[in-house]
Amino acid sequence: MSQTTESWGSRVGLILAMAGNAVGLGNFLRFPVQAVQNGGGTFIIPYLVSFLLMGIPLLWVEWAMGRFGGRYGDHSTPFILDNMTKRRFWKYFGVFGIFTNMGVMAYYTYIESWTLTYTIKSLKGDFLGLDLAQLDIFFNNYVDLGSGINFPVWAILAFLVTLTINIYILSRGLSAGIETVAKIAMPLLILFGAFLAIMSWTTGSTGRCDDCSTFIGLNFLWEPDFTTLANPKIWLAAAGQIFFTLSVGMGTIHCYSSYLKQKDDIALNAMAAGWMNGFVEIVLGSAVVIPIAVGYLGLDWVIENAGFMMAFKTMPFLFDQWGSVIAVISGVAWFGLLFFAGITSSLAMGTPFMGFVQDEFNWSKNKSAIILGVSILAMGLPTILFFEKGVFDEYDYWTGTVSLVVFALAEVILFAWVFGMDKGWAEINDGADMKVPKIYRPIIKYVTPLFIGTILFTSLIKPLNGELSDWSTAWNSLLSGNGWPWAKDSIINKVFHLDTGVIWWENDVLTDMFYIDMSRYFLLTCFFVLVAMVKAASNKRKKRAL
Ligand code: ALA
Repeated sequence: MSQTTESWGSRVGLILAMAGNAVGLGNFLRFPVQAVQNGGGTFIIPYLVSFLLMGIPLLWVEWAMGRFGGRYGDHSTPFILDNMTKRRFWKYFGVFGIFTNMGVMAYYTYIESWTLTYTIKSLKGDFLGLDLAQLDIFFNNYVDLGSGINFPVWAILAFLVTLTINIYILSRGLSAGIETVAKIAMPLLILFGAFLAIMSWTTGSTGRCDDCSTFIGLNFLWEPDFTTLANPKIWLAAAGQIFFTLSVGMGTIHCYSSYLKQKDDIALNAMAAGWMNGFVEIVLGSAVVIPIAVGYLGLDWVIENAGFMMAFKTMPFLFDQWGSVIAVISGVAWFGLLFFAGITSSLAMGTPFMGFVQDEFNWSKNKSAIILGVSILAMGLPTILFFEKGVFDEYDYWTGTVSLVVFALAEVILFAWVFGMDKGWAEINDGADMKVPKIYRPIIKYVTPLFIGTILFTSLIKPLNGELSDWSTAWNSLLSGNGWPWAKDSIINKVFHLDTGVIWWENDVLTDMFYIDMSRYFLLTCFFVLVAMVKAASNKRKKRAL
């Protein structure tokens, strides 16, 4: 434990930092694409149900755990969890709360660096007059796509600059660094988002094609459709989005709230940050990429081409349709917004490691920040160099998706069943500025763990295509002795390559699977380095206690 003097400067600063942690690239790049790929408005009901039954409970649980840990001077999940139980193994679950952040930060900062480059290029007017094919070429050259093993010099430099900015801010500490940035970035982000949303809403029908209207795009995203509620694929996607967008199951919220004072409110603050994220995601996140693209390219084109690269490969072309002056302003607003959204989240991802090493090894802020920076550089480079081999997606799969669910399940069981709901509920309500609805007590105890457990189980064995009918087909196939038809992205298939077998070498070259598997081992090694550090810290504590 540490003798830290760090704390939040003001309540507004705390809420903006927490909201900044949640509001990120996920709100503007991941959400709209997930929604389009999962049937548009069909996505919104599972999304809202996941928010109410899983997102909100996890926010309260994590805020409460963090403030509880902070009372004992602990600012990262291994020892926050350790304090909540007598069983010593829980602290190793806590390693997820540092590892996940570092893994996500490694690839997330890379995308963040694209947004920085694109902001500067937009400001210089470099995208004016480019058509979709030229934007595609620019992007591919920038990240050096097409060369197999990528060595994008400018993209690496931009990554280094972005990482250095992050590390510098982190070295300034909570109040002078993160809080100050959040107070500037969050209002600007909302301003830029509102500007783009108004541009989108006022564009309406462009007459470019029969269905070229921004309203058709908005309608597609917002009109709920109850008929597909039984589709497990959409539920999995919606729940995954809730995890990523709220940054729950990560360890960042625990770390931020561990710097609260004991009587500080957590119930209302958690809601404020969570709903602000929801507003930015559903209102602003939905308003930009998809509707504007539908306005000029039509709904069919968008459904066919939806992907997070659209933000870079398509948006500058669309802005250009508004005339060059507005195009420059919109480009700066869009990529600037993404940069602010990204950096307020990546800063949060850096804090659990900083908190951990400062608490346990008494490293200074500067030393902690520099070592974090070097580690993120080492972890991030494979995602850049082997981007095309699928390493970037592999990081996102394990650290940005699976780890979150595993850790969230562990923490909610610990909170509700080991620490106990009486103590847990009292912790959430202590100092609360709002009345927490009583219904959330049984929800946290039963519904949320069951919900997350179902998601994890379903993700483990997901069958090919993952639609409802594919489940019965899969069971029939299994029972008739033909085996289980694995989805490519089911966890078990990912681990064992059951559908294809392990192929590391083919036609005299190393396969993508080789690079993917190596990156997996590398991530596993990073995880165990953190386990060893937690073990060393625990030994140190024991010695001190003697
Ligand atoms: N919550 C962050 C985002 O949405 C990680 O991007």
